[in-house]
Amino acid sequence: MNDMSLLISAAELPGDGPAIPVFLVGADGLDAALSELSGMQRRFVEASGFAAREAEIALVPDTEGALARVLFGLGKNKAHKPFLTGRLAQSLPAGTYRLAGEVKDARLAALGFALGGYRFARYRGGKEGGEEKTRPRLAVPPELDASELENTADSVALARDLINIPANDLGPAELTAACRDLAEACGADISVVEGAELEKEFPLIATVGAGSDRPPRLVDIRWGEADAPKVTLVGKGVVFDTGGLDIKPPSSMLLMKKDMGGAANVLGLARMVMRAGLKLRLRVLVPAVENAISGRAFRPGDVLKSRKGLNVEIGNTDAEGRLVLADALALAEEETPELIVSMATLTGAARVALGPDLPAFFATDDGLASALEAAARAEHDPFWRLPLWPDYDSWLASDIADVNHIASNAYAGAIVAALFLKRFVEKSAYAHFDIFAWAPKARPLGPKGGEAQAIRALFTYLAERYGRG
Ligand code: BES
Ligand code: ZN
Ligand code: ZN
Repeated sequence: MNDMSLLISAAELPGDGPAIPVFLVGADGLDAALSELSGMQRRFVEASGFAAREAEIALVPDTEGALARVLFGLGKNKAHKPFLTGRLAQSLPAGTYRLAGEVKDARLAALGFALGGYRFARYRGGKEGGEEKTRPRLAVPPELDASELENTADSVALARDLINIPANDLGPAELTAACRDLAEACGADISVVEGAELEKEFPLIATVGAGSDRPPRLVDIRWGEADAPKVTLVGKGVVFDTGGLDIKPPSSMLLMKKDMGGAANVLGLARMVMRAGLKLRLRVLVPAVENAISGRAFRPGDVLKSRKGLNVEIGNTDAEGRLVLADALALAEEETPELIVSMATLTGAARVALGPDLPAFFATDDGLASALEAAARAEHDPFWRLPLWPDYDSWLASDIADVNHIASNAYAGAIVAALFLKRFVEKSAYAHFDIFAWAPKARPLGPKGGEAQAIRALFTYLAERYGRG
């Protein structure tokens, strides 16, 4: 887990001097920034070639050679990158800093710093762990809610950590243990269904997990006042996706430790909700399974009776995510919550359509969709709506069963998957996020690796709709 918070509230500044100011400087503000410096400082910065290019850093000394201030370039197009400050957390020497100069959105700038400084050091032999004293920290001005920023940063770090842990160390049991740790830390109730009961109650989850030596489970977390409005989160927890008997080629399998990214993200979101004490009744369902290959693995052509009673024909064992989600969604629907949200690394097609940075989302309700889109814009946590196109629903017809779980054509894969899920949610308002859960390269917002997507926006939406306790 994240070793320490990179944010510190201005009230608890350490005794060893005030925070070093970091001036954010757009290319057009360079002259003004230089004019504030002494002649020596100015010559030093000019000699270093600093031109306020995007994420460029100039360390400015005082007459004793100590660090007096930092200039941080925003480049020309500064409006679109509120998280550029993440680069500060990645590059500055140890010390305590504060932001100054052209700070457009102080909250997102501080959040950028906290998220940008995330590291996954579990397998680095302690070298990169970042002991407290060797890392830069940012003093958050008193008008910002430092504890909420910390809540967000730590919840994103939880999601990233869980995704980054390789499948040999994160099987269904370990994912379940992570759920238990979170529930205990937040005062939530948790129950876990496994073994014969899982086979009876959640046949699709049991069947998808049957090929693995590490048995499947369904985790059920509940938190909040029983009579508060009910919101249920469902996250795909496939700890590794080989594709099953429809085995994936090596290049497609390489990253499949991240196939529990939906579960990691709903746990991160649940953490935010519980820590902030939102006035809702939260339920989190995580089917935790490994899609493995063995003599006990399910087969293409099998017909499985789902929890809901629908007979599902298996078109391809690599479309396992929608199966485990179907049983969990059926359970969610049984108490008809006000809102169901599912998150899943569900289809390659979503990534083909929108790329790794932009999750696809689906909503049964236009008002819900536009409120979510507004929250996404406010938080700079983007996603893009795709339609639950009704005509394509017929593509799920099976020759022998109630439904096939894939289409027999290769069109609109993300939509078809969402339509399959929709068959298991009839009454509740429903939003589904088909996420990539992975950053293919390092960015200001964080390193290459597991990524939280859509949960900051979802939290903002829930906080606005239900209020804080
Ligand atoms: N976990 C994959 C989807 C995936 C692949 C997400 C790559 C992100 C990156 C999922 O279980 C899967 O394999 N889906 C298949 C469905 C197909 C067989 C209908 C896919 O998308 O190819
Ligand atoms: Zn798959
Ligand atoms: Zn999968």
